[in-house]
Amino acid sequence: MPRALITGITGQDGSYMAEFLSAKGYEVHGLKRRSSSFNTDRVDHLYVDLHSAGSTFFLHYADLADASSLAWCLADIKPDEVYNLGAQSHVRVSFDVPEYTSDVVAIGAVRLLEAIRRTGLPCRFYQASSSEMFGSTPPPQNEATPFHPRSPYACAKVFAHQITVNYRESYGLHASCGILFNHESPRRGETFVTRKITRAVALIRMGMQQTLYLGNLDARRDWGFAGDYVEAMWAMLQQDSPDDYVIGTAESHSVREFTEAAFAHAGLDWREHVRIDPRYFRPAEVDDLRADASKARRVLGWEPRVGFQELVRMMVDADLTALRRKFQGGADAMDTHAAES
Ligand code: NAP
Ligand code: GDD
Repeated sequence: MPRALITGITGQDGSYMAEFLSAKGYEVHGLKRRSSSFNTDRVDHLYVDLHSAGSTFFLHYADLADASSLAWCLADIKPDEVYNLGAQSHVRVSFDVPEYTSDVVAIGAVRLLEAIRRTGLPCRFYQASSSEMFGSTPPPQNEATPFHPRSPYACAKVFAHQITVNYRESYGLHASCGILFNHESPRRGETFVTRKITRAVALIRMGMQQTLYLGNLDARRDWGFAGDYVEAMWAMLQQDSPDDYVIGTAESHSVREFTEAAFAHAGLDWREHVRIDPRYFRPAEVDDLRADASKARRVLGWEPRVGFQELVRMMVDADLTALRRKFQGGADAMDTHAAES
C-alpha cells in the first residue's frame, strides 16, 4: 500500500487530495496544526477511529514553522509521496502578516525539503506553487512566463518554487511544482472571493443578509474546480522525471462576472446587493491570470472537467443546501458575520 504525507490536509486542497489518494488505495497521513477548536471539518468523513482495525487515515500534530516536528513525522511515517499543501494562503492577509507568511510558505518548504534530504528518504515531493507568482506578467501564463510577484504571499511562493527546483537540481530529488491557478469548491475558505460571494448569495436568498461588500470587481482569474486539480498534483508525482506544470482552465472571468453569475443562479440581481468597500482593495493587485496549461495536457493527459458556470452553480447550490439544512436542523441562526478580507 503506497503511503502519502500531506501538509495542509485540513485545507480545501488537502481534503480533496486525501479523498483522492484514499480512493486509490493509499495510506494517508496528514499534518495538522494545534488549534483551540476542532479544525478537521473537511476531513472528518475520512476519519476512522484509531482503535478500530484497518485504519488507513492518520493525522499528526506538526507545523511548517517547526522543523523538528516535520523531521520526526517524516522519519516515523516514511512516506512514498509528500504533498506540501500547507500555507498561510490568503493574499490580502499576507500584507498584514508578511513575516509569518514568509516563514510558513517559503522557509516551511525548505524545512520540509531539508528534512527529506537529511533523512535520505527516497520519497517524491510535490510543491504547491501558485499563479500568483506571475503577478503582473500579462496572460496567458505558462511554465516559461517570468515571475513578477505582487504580494508577500507571492514572493514567498516564488522562493518555495525556486528552492524546490534547486533541491531537484542539487540533490536529484524527485520534486515537482504545480503552478496552479485559482481553484475553488464548496470547501473553499469563506474569505476567498468566490466563497464569500456564494455564501452571501445563500444568506441573501434566505432573507438573512441584505448587502455584500466587495473590493476590486475588475480583477480577472482563471477559476477551476479543486477536485480536478488534485488529480493533476498526483499525476505529476507518477512521472518518471520530476518537472513543473501550469494547471488551469485557459479561461478567465472577472470578479464582477462571477458575482453576476452567482446572484443570477439564485434568481437575484447583484446590483441590488453588492457595494464596494475599499478596505478589500490590495496594496498591489494581480489584474489578470489565465493559464496556458498545454504542457500538462500533453505530458500528464490532464484536462479540467468542471467549467466556470458549473463551478458557480455547484458553489451556490452547496451554500444554499448547507444553510437550509442548518435551519431544518434547528440551529438558532447561521453565523451571519460578514467574511473579513
Ligand atoms: P487553504 O484551504 O487555506 O489550506 C491551507 C492549509 O495549510 C490548511 O490545512 C492550514 O491549516 C494549513 N496551514 C496553515 N499554516 C500552517 C502551518 N504553519 N503549518 C502547517 N500547516 C499550515 O489552502 P488551499 O486552497 O487548500 O491551497 C493549498 C495550497 O495550494 C496552499 O499552499 C496554497 O497556497 C496553494 N495554492 C492554492 C490555490 C487555490 O486557488 N486554492 C492556487 C495555487 C496555490 P489550518 O486548517 O489549521 O488553517
Ligand atoms: N478575498 C477577497 N475578498 N477578494 C476580493 C474581494 C473580497 O471582498 N473583492 C474583490 N476581490 C478580488 C481580489 O482583489 C483578487 O483580485 C480576486 O478577488 C481573487 O481574490 P481571492 O479569492 O482572495 O484569491 P487570490 O487570487 O488573491 O488568491 C487565491 O488564488 C491564488 C492562485 O492564483 C488563493 O487561493 C491563493 O492561495 C492562490 O495562490
